[in-house]
Amino acid sequence: MSKEENQGKITVRICCGINCSVHGGQELLDSIESDTYLTSHCNIVYNECLEFCEEGKNSPIVEIEGKPFLRMTPERLTTLLTDKIQGRE
Ligand code: FES
Repeated sequence: MSKEENQGKITVRICCGINCSVHGGQELLDSIESDTYLTSHCNIVYNECLEFCEEGKNSPIVEIEGKPFLRMTPERLTTLLTDKIQGRE
């Protein structure tokens, strides 16, 4: 994706570290990647350990525009991103 295509998109870092992967990270990835509305408005970045997991107690973790969100669920992620996108439109 070119730099121009990323402009205006919300940067979403999804942790693919081991603790987050085994505590629901894959479900987060699956949910966001299957939602064309979200993928068209977000720049999805796959990240190594974001260092908030505390051995999985806070996993899975997503960072949205630099702000970490702990113990994320697919439903909460969809709601957060949809609200953020609609706030910009
Ligand atoms: S493995 Fe996700 S923050 Fe550490």
